[in-house]
Amino acid sequence: MIAAALDAGVAASWVTGDEAYGQDPGLRAGLEARGVGYVLAVSSATKVRINSGRTAIRADEAARRLPAAAWHRHSAGSGAKGPRYYMTPVHVTGPRLTLREIEPGDTDDLLAIYGDPEATRHLSFEPRTRDQVQAIVDRSIDSAKADPRTEYGLAVTRHGDHRLIGYARLATEPQQAATIGFALHPAEWGKGHGTEVVHLLSALGFNFLGLHRIWAARSPLNEASARTLLRAGMTQDGRIRDHVFVNGAWRDSITYSILEHEWVPLDGLEAGEIAEPDTTTAQFPDHTVGSDGSGEE
Ligand SMILES: CC(C)(COP(=O)(O)OP(=O)(O)OC[C@H]1O[C@@H](n2cnc3c(N)ncnc32)[C@H](O)[C@@H]1OP(=O)(O)O)[C@@H](O)C(=O)NCCC(=O)NCCS
Repeated sequence: MIAAALDAGVAASWVTGDEAYGQDPGLRAGLEARGVGYVLAVSSATKVRINSGRTAIRADEAARRLPAAAWHRHSAGSGAKGPRYYMTPVHVTGPRLTLREIEPGDTDDLLAIYGDPEATRHLSFEPRTRDQVQAIVDRSIDSAKADPRTEYGLAVTRHGDHRLIGYARLATEPQQAATIGFALHPAEWGKGHGTEVVHLLSALGFNFLGLHRIWAARSPLNEASARTLLRAGMTQDGRIRDHVFVNGAWRDSITYSILEHEWVPLDGLEAGEIAEPDTTTAQFPDHTVGSDGSGEE
């Protein structure tokens, strides 16, 4: 289609396209032969050449190695309600962990968490089936395409390892706020990862999305979550009575929050630009708690 348009004399000095176009080497070669510039997406696993072509590494690894100062966040133009900033795909790195977008291949690793009775003991749902986890993966991928994007369902990975070891979620709300949830594979507990994940979500919300307030809800019995939220700098706010119906009964949630000026980033967290507050762009998701429509993840 692009070649046909150029052949037909459509004037274009450069071309852009998504991954469907980027994975076609013939298109790139054709554009180069015509002297037409291009910006084409490729999958994160695509090998790209660096060091003047001497080294081949994965595209996501090449992106990760770039210093924070090499990235510039641009407005996607003014929307009806003011400037719109985007951070899609999400890639936020801390001292040991990364948040990346969920991919179709993440289902089994997420099932190892959401299907596990121990990992879900204090969450707002009973252990998930594979089909249910598949639906969460599908919805996380779809939500990344929404405009405006209100939901960020993300994979937690270790640096240099693509494998999902946790799920982290941020859903925006009106008034520059968002709710967060997170869960790690039990083999990863007790190493400081939970605290880092809350910091990574805070970096996404405060540095990239220009939020003012981030909050979380936990089960009254979830001591690990309580300690993790406090450790990450949050303050306990209060209690939502009968917040969640789970295991055949209503239960309360204890809520925590952190404001943009209260957050002290962990050492080693990528800098990120401070987003200009966009107080006019109130976003109204169809639900405001939990990636499954419930209290906490
Ligand atoms: C909550 C969770 C993410 C914590 O992750 P983690 O990597 O073990 O947490 P950290 O190692 O960063 O520890 C943070 C704090 O919690 C404390 N902590 C961790 N597990 C604990 C437990 N089982 N009981 C009491 N305190 C615990 C740590 O000692 C630390 O506190 P400190 O710094 O004051 O000593 C993890 O337990 C998990 O995935 N649980 C299942 C899902 C879940 O409950 N998610 C939260 C929903 S609101």
